[in-house]
Amino acid sequence: METIYYDLRDTKGQQKEIEDKISAAAKILREGGLVGIPTETVYGLGANGLDSAAVQRIFAVKGRPQDNPLILHVTGAQWLPRYCADIPPMAYILARKFWPGPLTMILKRQPLVPDATTAGLNTVGVRCPNHPVTLAIIREAGVPIAAPSANTSGRPSCTTAQDVLEDMGGRIDSLVDGGPCILGVESTVLDLTCTPPRLLRPGGLPLEDMERLIGHIDVDKAALGTIEAHERPAAPGMKYRHYAPKAPVTVITGAPGASAREIGKRVGPTSGVICFDEYAHLFPKQVVRPLGPSEDKQIQAQRLFEALRSFDHSGVTEIYAQCPDNRGLGFAIGNRLKKAAGFHVLEADNQRVILGLTGGTGAGKSSALRALQAMGGTVIDCDQVYHEILQANAEFQNAINAKFPGVFNANGQLNRRKLGQEVFAKRDRLDELNEIVFRYLVPELERQVEAADGLYALDAINLFESGLDRLCDRTVAVTAPTELRVRRIMARDDIPEQYARLRVFAQKGDDFYRSKCDCELNNASESPDVFYREARLFFERLMESILEEKRKNAVG
Ligand code: TXA
Ligand code: MG
Repeated sequence: METIYYDLRDTKGQQKEIEDKISAAAKILREGGLVGIPTETVYGLGANGLDSAAVQRIFAVKGRPQDNPLILHVTGAQWLPRYCADIPPMAYILARKFWPGPLTMILKRQPLVPDATTAGLNTVGVRCPNHPVTLAIIREAGVPIAAPSANTSGRPSCTTAQDVLEDMGGRIDSLVDGGPCILGVESTVLDLTCTPPRLLRPGGLPLEDMERLIGHIDVDKAALGTIEAHERPAAPGMKYRHYAPKAPVTVITGAPGASAREIGKRVGPTSGVICFDEYAHLFPKQVVRPLGPSEDKQIQAQRLFEALRSFDHSGVTEIYAQCPDNRGLGFAIGNRLKKAAGFHVLEADNQRVILGLTGGTGAGKSSALRALQAMGGTVIDCDQVYHEILQANAEFQNAINAKFPGVFNANGQLNRRKLGQEVFAKRDRLDELNEIVFRYLVPELERQVEAADGLYALDAINLFESGLDRLCDRTVAVTAPTELRVRRIMARDDIPEQYARLRVFAQKGDDFYRSKCDCELNNASESPDVFYREARLFFERLMESILEEKRKNAVG
């Protein structure tokens, strides 16, 4: 069979020609043919979803197991009552917000939908894809298009028309090229026949986005990959080994630095590596497919399937893949990688240690932080992070401006001095400011330390008030006798004794820090060098005990 190719990558050109191609594709569908269609997620292999014989051909050319149902693609929520029964209001709420888009809803079916499409289930998956060409084809055909991903069953999904030709060329009637898929991972599959709704497959629409709209969603075991061989997943497709290149894949989870190091220990000359861009240089002898920056999950999703596919032409004998964390699109990316690996997943040994350092001015926190840096530690100055995110985040700025009008100048710069005066010696105003700052600062620091590997120190005056102490393996109070602090501040800042004293007494006393922290580093030395050495020794011992404890926990 010759596969007719319709190039519809550019839909701004000759309107007549475009309409003709769309009509031709729609006609093939109406007459029971198979058409490769572009969507924002991955390419689909489409047939008239109401035509049993046409749908059965999909199963045949894909080599798809008969018990794995197909998704019906429609042009909007107005099509739902035609094919679905007992539609809960939530379906319309979700459709209004997320359609067209990467969300497939599982609903009760109408008898009109054939068993071939639903694999005999009394439910049907429905989605409105966000691609103008495919929406036009469905509209023109006037029937819902049943379409699985256009890959041969078990292979990575297709994100370009070339991929579809590679898998399906000569076996389908037509292929519509709508350009590369923008998202790169399949839709999120959400079962709405139960309460609360249930996530059957993580996908292009993040779980968090849906939960923000409709509240809690249960996550099916199969979506997490913890299902046992004999169990029956709610989405039949989730049980098959999938997305798999020919060489076996091992997925390494954990902080990016740690997983990269772990892969480094394992690779040989014939290994392939999928890693974040930052780590590609660590594998000069291997075939490397950079997945994108570790911070950019959109790019990772776009490149994922192409990376998996490309190894089949490279002769590698094994593949190692770094895995993003589970947040946002990371859930879908990790799920596809793990499925490609047949759930052969290793957790990188995370050597991350986070210390929280706090204490009054003049006690020696800076010297202690220098000692930590000399040990290879990274210091996170929480006050600096606060000002960085404030610069970049208009919502944060607005929140402060609402409570403290006039502290930003005309070009959006914070007048720190003015804000300082506003809150200085006014307890409740300071609390108000802190409440806002902590709300934005803590999630950002959580994100930073989660990606961290190695030794980190959070330098935070308000370590406990902010709740940042909860991120730390240990909190350390840096303390010193009051008279020593006064003299150090006088020397350091070149100010008279009276001011230095005022500064010390305006702050919380050592007793506060001592009572809150896990341990105390007391700086009673006249000599900075002596204290620096003491601090170094103190932290080395502390590290030993923390790592020992982590080792025990990992075994136990
Ligand atoms: O993004 C996508 O969803 C792409 C594009 C082409 O739209 N399609 C896609 O289809 O990924 P497919 O067939 O590869 O995956 C559909 C998944 C399978 O895991 C299937 O088991 C599940 O959805 N599914 C379909 N109908 C279902 C139903 N009635 N109940 C439970 N799971 C269902
Ligand atoms: Mg598929």
